[in-house]
Amino acid sequence: MQNQKTKNFTSEFEKEVFEGLTAYPKHLSSKYFYDEIGDKLFQDIMAMPEYYLTDCEFNILGANKSEISALFQADNVPFSLFELGAGDGKKTKILLNHLVENKTVFDYRPIDISQNALDQLEASLKAEIPNLEVNPIQGTYFETLRDINQANGRKKIILFLGSNIGNLLHEQAVDFLNNLRDSINEGDLVFMGFDQKKHPQTILDAYNDQTGITAAFNKNILRRINRELDGNFDLDKFIHWEVYDPETGTAKSFLVATAPVSVTIERLGLEIRLNQWETIHTEISQKYDDAVVEWLADKSGLSIVSQFTDAQQHYKNYVFKK
Ligand SMILES: C[S@@+](CC[C@H](N)C(=O)[O-])C[C@H]1O[C@@H](n2cnc3c(N)ncnc32)[C@H](O)[C@@H]1O
Repeated sequence: MQNQKTKNFTSEFEKEVFEGLTAYPKHLSSKYFYDEIGDKLFQDIMAMPEYYLTDCEFNILGANKSEISALFQADNVPFSLFELGAGDGKKTKILLNHLVENKTVFDYRPIDISQNALDQLEASLKAEIPNLEVNPIQGTYFETLRDINQANGRKKIILFLGSNIGNLLHEQAVDFLNNLRDSINEGDLVFMGFDQKKHPQTILDAYNDQTGITAAFNKNILRRINRELDGNFDLDKFIHWEVYDPETGTAKSFLVATAPVSVTIERLGLEIRLNQWETIHTEISQKYDDAVVEWLADKSGLSIVSQFTDAQQHYKNYVFKK
């Protein structure tokens, strides 16, 4: 096995996979779930009855689209609508349609790490909302904040839906929100979804469906390492495992080895061994309440302008300004 310091990684993916699989305990970043297969699996997850997040946010946007759009165009100036981790834009299209129907002057700038997701989104928008100006940006949240910062002189509205913020630990979220605050100006707005704390079983079920879609999604990261980095993970030797801690509001996904596993990853010159029951931590899905969101806003110099929720208060969208 080579020493990490002697390695020349050709991508962030290679570097992070190397670091994560040589760490103890092992971990991989959930942002690498999303390739062509992962994007499709996530769409299947959104369609599952257990994955309440999508329906909640869909209903919130549907019920409040006039009020939300009015907030975006309060000062009647053209704006750029950025969206971090846009995915298939299913929910965003509610707002996009409403804004276009009302002849609002804006362009839409979806940002995603997955080029496949952006290509599909652009094609579907062309067909469904042909009058919309779409300018996609491929990259990670952190990388693309610079693009947001340096964008045309227009007012900026930043969408961050799907409780994507929940994939960041509080410390990373504060760091990210601080950077986001530095990328916007007075008068710009941030519109963000936060999944709320609720019955722990409801949360566990959302990430642990009986049909195995979430398990396939979680394992896709290993499939990706096999394909892109010449690895030989035996996917059948791993199970998907979800835990939720109601005290911290943190749901965590793991891949657990059910037998001793030896893996070679040719492109990284790496050989690893997992003991039976050893874990690879792959995702966090943080759940929130008002106090935590207020704390995050406070730590990052943002203030809450408004909030929207569903009948059961399972999910909330907050509007922030600098
Ligand atoms: C959970 S999906 C949510 C998609 C959409 N926002 C929604 O609510 O339906 C997360 C999306 O963000 C993208 N993504 C995940 N981590 C990312 C990162 N660090 N930087 C940029 N995009 C990321 C994924 O490719 C995926 O399309």
